[in-house]
Amino acid sequence: MSEYSLPAKERKQDVVQNMFTSAAKAYDLNNSVLSLGQHHRWKRLTIDLLKIEKGQVILDLCGGTADLSLLAAEKAGGDGLVMTVDLNMAMLRVGLSKARSRVIDGLKERMSRARPVMIQANAESIPLPSGTVDRLTVGFGLRNVTNLDVALAEIYRVLKPGGRFACLEFSHPVNALWDGLYRFYSFFILPKIGKWISRDNTGIYEYLPASIAKFPDQESFSETIRKAGFSNVVYRNLSGGIVAIHMGEK
Ligand SMILES: C[S@@+](CC[C@H](N)C(=O)[O-])C[C@H]1O[C@@H](n2cnc3c(N)ncnc32)[C@H](O)[C@@H]1O
Repeated sequence: MSEYSLPAKERKQDVVQNMFTSAAKAYDLNNSVLSLGQHHRWKRLTIDLLKIEKGQVILDLCGGTADLSLLAAEKAGGDGLVMTVDLNMAMLRVGLSKARSRVIDGLKERMSRARPVMIQANAESIPLPSGTVDRLTVGFGLRNVTNLDVALAEIYRVLKPGGRFACLEFSHPVNALWDGLYRFYSFFILPKIGKWISRDNTGIYEYLPASIAKFPDQESFSETIRKAGFSNVVYRNLSGGIVAIHMGEK
């Protein structure tokens, strides 16, 4: 379907990080354009499904430019703590300036008064003690880690017993016609628009559809999450399965 080949495991982290460093400044704009604004709806639903309560400790893993963190902060309130963990400093910088500008803009009644906490770290080795997080969300991140099982084990470790996890990730359209249209869009149209907007030459918008195609489908991913120890694992397809939200409990 495309000439692009995914990086080998040993090189994946460096290649992925190089891509996000290059794409960081235009990342939010590209997300809105390429998803026709749908990513905001997907992210709001992810946070709603997590059922965050006031004062809780939230971790937004692979949080990047902090969209999910900011939505979570609204729910957790001033006494809550929302931490954005990401390996990429350029992405975190964009997230930090968004978080600061929203607090400074006087939207305090909607936003957490807690200072944004951004941590540069690997999802495969989260620098938090075990059993300390109430709710953990990861948006479009797990597809990019080098070892999915290790990242899921870390997610399970840092959650408190009874804690909830929600993963928003690209998935596999359920209808064959929709799948065909989506593949055409994602392999042939999306890379051109994404590249033009971000002036990128790292190949991130070719990596995107190739990595989505390789990511496990909804059922297999549910099974992988169960194997990591989670219970009550369920998923919800959005936009006909273009993305799915997987949820589990510790
Ligand atoms: C597609 S972006 C998603 C950003 C944000 N969660 C969102 O939904 O818009 C993926 C993010 O995952 C981060 N990432 C990739 N591999 C990672 C790893 N091993 N540990 C932590 N972050 C990682 C990237 O740096 C990037 O910011």
